[in-house]
Amino acid sequence: MYRYNTVFRNIKMLILENIDLASPLVLAPMAGYTDAPFRRIARRHGAALVFSELVSAEGIVRRDRKTAGYTRFTDDERPLGIQLFGMEPAVMGEAARIVSELGPDIIDINMGCCAPKVCHNGSGASLLRDPALTGRIAAAVVAGASVPVSAKIRLGWDAESRTYRELVRILEDAGVRMITVHGRTASQRFGGIADWDAIREIRENASVPVIGNGDIATHAQALERHAASGCAAVMIGRAAVGNPWIFSGGSPSVGDIVAQIMEHLDAMIDWYGEYGIILMRKHIVKYVHHVKNASKLRNELVHATRRDEIISILARISDDG
Ligand SMILES: Cc1cc2nc3c(=O)[nH]c(=O)nc-3n(C[C@H](O)[C@H](O)[C@H](O)COP(=O)(O)O)c2cc1C
Repeated sequence: MYRYNTVFRNIKMLILENIDLASPLVLAPMAGYTDAPFRRIARRHGAALVFSELVSAEGIVRRDRKTAGYTRFTDDERPLGIQLFGMEPAVMGEAARIVSELGPDIIDINMGCCAPKVCHNGSGASLLRDPALTGRIAAAVVAGASVPVSAKIRLGWDAESRTYRELVRILEDAGVRMITVHGRTASQRFGGIADWDAIREIRENASVPVIGNGDIATHAQALERHAASGCAAVMIGRAAVGNPWIFSGGSPSVGDIVAQIMEHLDAMIDWYGEYGIILMRKHIVKYVHHVKNASKLRNELVHATRRDEIISILARISDDG
């Protein structure tokens, strides 16, 4: 409880008064990965703040049950942000009002997703091309939300339109209290390398706290990026999947990894029922990625359909070391 209060106070300060977090490492929103079980694990390993995956504002307003499922969380995940995507200011504002009632610590606006189903209908990273609409959406979310609002952007649409300076100003004017920057343009998707010079430039000029994001691979690198960019925090996405120790800096033994998989698996079954076993596969593949001798077991693990099967395969990993 003490720890929660400390971190929570710090994230409140981060958002309200521009003060550093207790830990400068934050878990990125990742569709299909950052659900409640994984967020809880990341928090326990030291992530200072976690986010839901992107949630459709339209689905929220329509009271779609599947969409509402993405907004479920438990108190031990806090501080937590719920991320919304959409392109209609009125719908985004109404969704922010509805989601606020669930009591997240932050509502985050997705302005960086370039998956076709999000981007092709004008939301996500498409907003990077339309600063005026971005401003209206941000203002509507701020007006609808009863918790602080943050936004997650990329540097712009493509190399010819790196609009981040204008975007940041518009978001600040609209009342957004924190901005996460993934240091790529939308057209880069995940190609090339994240531009941390641009992230630092944004941090130097922004009046709200900035979280830097892109390509962090290790705990040490995260701390370096944090120090070099001067960002309030840095956000870790892909490298945290199967490796929550990236938040603590610990180096897990094979036994630690196996124990973590079991705990994660049980949390998935608790949260989703038996279907959690199937959803767990993509995590298991990442967990065992660096375990020597595990490659021959990986195939068996991803085809296992029962908890006891997975446990007996994992027992062989720990025996083999
Ligand atoms: C599988 C996957 C799903 C993602 N889903 C989201 C999402 O729902 N919302 C979002 O803002 N970014 C999403 N992202 C982008 C990440 O939050 C992050 O910006 C990006 O992966 C770069 O950080 P990294 O190099 O640490 O992974 C996703 C990335 C991946 C790989």
